Amino acid sequence: MVKVAVLGAAGGIGQPLSLLLKLNQNVDELSLFDVVNVPGVGADLSHINSDSETKSFLPSSKEDKTALASALSGSNLVIIPAGIPRKPGMTRDDLFNINAGIIKGLAEGIAENAPKAFVLVISNPVNSTVPIVAETLKQKGVYDPARLFGVTTLDIVRANTFISQLFPKESKPSDFNINVIGGHSGETIVPLYSQGNSKAFYDKLSEEQKKELIRRVQFGGDEVVQAKGGAGSATLSMAYAGYRLAESILKALSSSEDIIECTYLNLDSSIKGASEAKELVGGLDFFSLPVKLGKNGIAEVKYEILNKISDDEKKLLAVAKEQLSGNISKGVSFATK
Ligand code: NAD
Ligand code: LMR
Repeated sequence: MVKVAVLGAAGGIGQPLSLLLKLNQNVDELSLFDVVNVPGVGADLSHINSDSETKSFLPSSKEDKTALASALSGSNLVIIPAGIPRKPGMTRDDLFNINAGIIKGLAEGIAENAPKAFVLVISNPVNSTVPIVAETLKQKGVYDPARLFGVTTLDIVRANTFISQLFPKESKPSDFNINVIGGHSGETIVPLYSQGNSKAFYDKLSEEQKKELIRRVQFGGDEVVQAKGGAGSATLSMAYAGYRLAESILKALSSSEDIIECTYLNLDSSIKGASEAKELVGGLDFFSLPVKLGKNGIAEVKYEILNKISDDEKKLLAVAKEQLSGNISKGVSFATK
């Protein structure tokens, strides 16, 4: 019996993400929570003849905590796309003041009602919202770092698509699975094109083309924000990316295959390979890296890739580390003040 809860289910990401989850054969119960419009989304999805049951939960007032409690109770996996998106001219950090409070409240609900769930955080700024969730769960005494995932999958999806677009005759986007490490905003996003099957293509690019490609991955979110002209940020590609990570985590519950995904995680020494990773990233507590998934969440951090990065990628990482450090402290201070 697998129950998945989506917090922010009536939003731009929440709706298509919930649709994809409704189609997943591994999901038995889909639990939709939002502060607006969620009964309609739930009624609509509930007519789809996939085998899972859909329920929706709308609080009756700001003080009502029972709807969130019912939505979360018994959940194995919780995905959070709740919060405001960017408009042109904004950075992800500009969302902090509003989204930090939303995330903290939802993390408290998770601690009280679904303390063993895998928690996937989509809400921006991810570099800071994930530390907020970690600290909140710690304060409630239910924190397991192997079960907390910052969703950076959209950066991998973009990295795969964008390199393929440069080699349309020789490649397809689905040929690639680029490791993108660091964080999820601007220069904290570091795609490792110099490793794996992208290397042969990447090496054919001029220095200028390489810079442009990396910048496109780092600022891919801005392309969508500009194109939507004030109506929000990436929703459909994000729903796909969030679903990919959720699907992999659910698959790992019943599979003996190696399932690897990049995620922004807490480099806590209780996770295999995390101490080695932490040392290689200058002591940062949170960082996105490929991880092996298992029945209990993150089974192992694949830190070895950090020993193979090119000199150019080392320079990108130095910038990423500096920015991440501030983003992480901001989240921790907010949650512990
Ligand atoms: P949206 O405004 O369309 O939807 C957000 C939803 O959250 C709304 O339905 C809103 O009612 C709901 N919400 C607000 N407060 C809530 C609360 N306390 N509890 C439950 N629900 C609540 O926004 P969106 O486009 O879906 O984006 C959501 C978030 O995801 C933004 O912060 C955005 O920046 C982020 N995002 C992250 C990535 C990523 O790669 N991690 C990609 C795209 C967007
Ligand atoms: C993205 O990368 O598309 C998201 O983080 C949304 C944004 O604000 O760009």
